[in-house]
Amino acid sequence: MKKVVITGSGGQLGKELMQLLKDDYLVHPFTKQQLDITNRKQIEETLEQIKPDFLINTAAYTQVDLCETNIDNAYLINGIAPYYLACEAKEKKVKFLHISTDYVFDGKKTEPYKEDDETYPHTIYGKSKLLGEEFMRLAYEESTIIRTSWLYGHNGKNFVNTIKKLAASTKEIRVVDDQFGSPTYTKDLATAIKQLLTKPAGIYHVTNSGICTWYEFAMEIVKYLQSDAVVTPVSTEEYGLATPRPKYSVLSHKKINTNGIHMRNWKKGLHEFLAKEDGKNGN
Ligand SMILES: NC(=O)c1ccc[n+]([C@@H]2O[C@H](COP(=O)([O-])OP(=O)(O)OC[C@H]3O[C@@H](n4cnc5c(N)ncnc54)[C@H](OP(=O)(O)O)[C@@H]3O)[C@@H](O)[C@H]2O)c1
Repeated sequence: MKKVVITGSGGQLGKELMQLLKDDYLVHPFTKQQLDITNRKQIEETLEQIKPDFLINTAAYTQVDLCETNIDNAYLINGIAPYYLACEAKEKKVKFLHISTDYVFDGKKTEPYKEDDETYPHTIYGKSKLLGEEFMRLAYEESTIIRTSWLYGHNGKNFVNTIKKLAASTKEIRVVDDQFGSPTYTKDLATAIKQLLTKPAGIYHVTNSGICTWYEFAMEIVKYLQSDAVVTPVSTEEYGLATPRPKYSVLSHKKINTNGIHMRNWKKGLHEFLAKEDGKNGN
C-alpha cells in the first residue's frame, strides 16, 4: 500500500481525510502536537523516517479575525511552513498537496473564479495563504494546490455547528445575506482530494456545487433542524464584521470536471452531515 502523511490531522479536514484514506493507503496522521509544520527539522525527520508517497498539508492558521492581529504567526504557519513542506517533499520525491482558500481572491467577480484568475487578497489570512501558495510553487513547481471555501466538518469550529448552537439557544439569528459562496462538506472535499492524488500537479478549485448566501445556508440548517428560531437576513454593513470577507467566493469547477471529478450540490452534502450528527447524538 502507498503511504500518505497528513499534517494538521487534528483539524476538521485532516480528521475526515484520515478516515477516508485509511482503506486504500497507509495513513500517517500528525496533529500539531506531533508535527509542527513551522519546524523544518521535524518535517525532514518525519519524511525521512516514513518515506511516504504523498504529503497532504491540511494544517493552517484558519482563524481569519485572529490572523489580523497575530500577523507573524499567520505568515509563519500559512506562508512559510508550506515552503518548508514543499522543499522537503521535493528533496525526498514525495507528491505534495496543499489546501488553500477562496480568500486569495478579492471577491469582486460576479462569476465563478477560475484557477488562473488574478489573485488579490484583502485580509492577512488571504495574503498569508497566497504567500504559502507562491512559496511552495517556487520551491516545488510540480506540487498541487487545492483551493476550497466555506468548509464544515464533524467536530469542527464552523458555521453549521455555530448555527446549530444558536438555533437551540436563541430566538433570532442574524445572518449576512450579501456574500455568496458554496458551502463545502469536508467529506466531499476529502473524496475529491483522494481523486487528486493521482491527477497531474497544479491548482484545482474544489467546493460543493451550487451557490448561496450565508443567510440561505443558515435557513437550510434551521429548516432541517425544524427549529423555531427566526433567521433574519442582514447586510454585511449592518452585521459589522471587523475583518472584510470576500463578497463573492464561488470557485469554478471546470478544471476538476475536465479531470473527471464532479461535486454534489451543497444541500445534499449538508443533509448528509446533519443526519450523521443526529446519529452521533442518538437522535
Ligand atoms: N475552514 C474553512 O472554512 C476553510 C475555507 C477555505 C479553505 N480552508 C483551508 O482548508 C484547510 C483545512 O481547514 P480546516 O477547516 O480543516 O482547519 P482547522 O479545523 O482549523 O484545522 C487546521 C489544523 O491545523 C493545525 N495547526 C495550526 N498550526 C499548526 C502548525 N504550526 N503545525 C501543525 N498543525 C497546525 C490546527 O491546530 P490548532 O487548532 O491546535 O491550532 C488545526 O488542527 C486549511 O488549509 C484552510 O486554510 C478552510
